[in-house]
Amino acid sequence: MRILAIETSCDETAVGVVEQLPDNRVGVISHVFASSLLEHQQTGGIVPEVAARAQQSLMIPTLNQALEEACGGLDQTTTYAKEEIDAIAVTTGPGLIGSLLVGVETAKSLALTWDKPLIPVNHLTGHLYANWLVRKSDPDWLPPTLPALGLIVSGGHTMLVLLKDHGQLEVIGQTRDDAAGECFDKCARALSLPYPGGPQLSRLAKDWTGSPTESTNLLPHPRLTDGSLDFSFSGLKAAFVRLAQTDTDKQKLSFALETTIAEVIEKQVIEALKRYPLKQFMLCGGVAANTVLREKLRQACEARGVRFNLPDIIHCTDNAAMIGAAAIYNYQVVETVGVKADPRLSYGNS
Ligand code: KG4
Ligand code: ZN
Repeated sequence: MRILAIETSCDETAVGVVEQLPDNRVGVISHVFASSLLEHQQTGGIVPEVAARAQQSLMIPTLNQALEEACGGLDQTTTYAKEEIDAIAVTTGPGLIGSLLVGVETAKSLALTWDKPLIPVNHLTGHLYANWLVRKSDPDWLPPTLPALGLIVSGGHTMLVLLKDHGQLEVIGQTRDDAAGECFDKCARALSLPYPGGPQLSRLAKDWTGSPTESTNLLPHPRLTDGSLDFSFSGLKAAFVRLAQTDTDKQKLSFALETTIAEVIEKQVIEALKRYPLKQFMLCGGVAANTVLREKLRQACEARGVRFNLPDIIHCTDNAAMIGAAAIYNYQVVETVGVKADPRLSYGNS
């Protein structure tokens, strides 16, 4: 099965073609994305109207490029799409309404024109299924096995999910306020770093040569006392912003924040693995690109005999290939004209 997938839930305009391979793997045939990042760097964050306008003009060129890459020539794209693509997949939510509409309406038009089924995909399911995309950086890679514990850590979500089987999931923990990525970005802003601040802050943290304890003792470790597997990052963010007003050592502050976020997440993952003794863990979402978090979780899993999976970095942040992979394993044909963008699309039991 070959799927053309579109993802426009936030500031990216992404189109990809993926195909189902033997042994539960999903191959990426083409993968193109355009971003309006430079415009958002000027405002220090995403302005929804600006993102949607950019996506409107980037959508068709990105689609053309993804098809051209898949079949080797722009003149052949219509024939390729008609003959080689089995279905169209699109992110319907959650996300920014103007942005989602660009992708959803484009996908509907293509499905109707080419007479293909349209598969609506929840953005969060997409992040989880990035774990089924063939990892070019790891020749020994094998896809995850189910049931599994999944952790989605992105700019908009921090969520622990039990994926019992394809299409059967349960949310067992999520953030009560800010997402981990949001916490990284807002704290980075307090250090005057450009948007998105997570990767920039992480780079500064690597340059910290002082004592780790001196740095990490600076910040509180937010803990919920109700025994839930939820997260809370707003107190940590507020403490960081206050500290940044008096302490000017950006490297030390960055190290403190990165370590604290990673430790808080690690603690909840370990607790979740105690309560749900699964043999497979998978990490995903933009913050999965953070090396400190990845290595902490890898070690925590290995110490407990749990298999650890994560996507290639390029598939951790928003992309269309993950939406195509999710569509392959959650293939549900719906009436095309009824597919709607839903910015508050709920997830699992949440
Ligand atoms: O999944 P994603 O691309 O978009 C959403 O669905 O939100 O995640 C973007 C988030 C941003 O908050 C960004 O700062 C964060 O992922 N991020 C990182 C790193 N790379 C991306 N945070 C910490 N360290 C990184 N290396
Ligand atoms: Zn995302």
